Amino acid sequence: MNKNMLPAYQRIENPLKFIKEFLKHPVQTGAVAPSSSFLTKKMLEPVDFTEAKTIVELGPGEGTFTRAMLKRMRKDATLYAIEINPEFTKKLSKIKDKRLIVCQEDATKVKKILNGAKPDYIISGLPIGIMPDKVVRSIIKAVKEVLGNATFIQFQYTPRWHLMLARNFTIIIDFTPLNIPPALVYICTKKEPNTPPFIVRELEHVLNTLAVPPYSGATLRK
Ligand SMILES: C[S@@+](CC[C@H](N)C(=O)[O-])C[C@H]1O[C@@H](n2cnc3c(N)ncnc32)[C@H](O)[C@@H]1O
Repeated sequence: MNKNMLPAYQRIENPLKFIKEFLKHPVQTGAVAPSSSFLTKKMLEPVDFTEAKTIVELGPGEGTFTRAMLKRMRKDATLYAIEINPEFTKKLSKIKDKRLIVCQEDATKVKKILNGAKPDYIISGLPIGIMPDKVVRSIIKAVKEVLGNATFIQFQYTPRWHLMLARNFTIIIDFTPLNIPPALVYICTKKEPNTPPFIVRELEHVLNTLAVPPYSGATLRK
């Protein structure tokens, strides 16, 4: 069957390649399939592509978000795709677009890679839910160093890093069940004083079901 005839949620660029990389580096790859079009939409919804000039992508993998962003980015914008796995950077390098800079590097090197450029958005597909504590903390530290007035958007499959993200950023939380696995989307900006602990979009029912104490006090944004 032609891949394009499948519904969007079943369309995966190259499922075998992704699974192969998952089996080789399970923690680093962090998922058995690339993000769905629904998660891609949620991740990119907060991005104002008419204004954004510098976008950083951490952990682009096969380039699901990368391609979606390049479609919408300004002609004079730049996208830095920072990916640690050479198999994925090889594939990303095949995208012929002069706005895309593919860097085979660790995400913690973001400051060095930007070399003074100020990002407008940092979009992360890093699998922080299953990465070791020390690694996640160093990634968040590196992101904060370059954040300025940018928006950092990170998904996770469980609320594992919820409190740490809430401590470090002002956050809005979104959710999509239509991904393998379902994902929480954290929209993070510089920590501002006197902001609510966090704001939740379309998530109230999930949090009520979970009834996890840190969620009490969540506000729902329509
Ligand atoms: C869950 S996949 C996400 C792929 C893609 N963004 C998507 O959503 O379909 C996570 C990606 O992060 C990459 N990665 C893991 N640790 C990294 C690190 N420290 N620096 C840069 N990339 C990393 C993995 O190689 C993998 O491609």
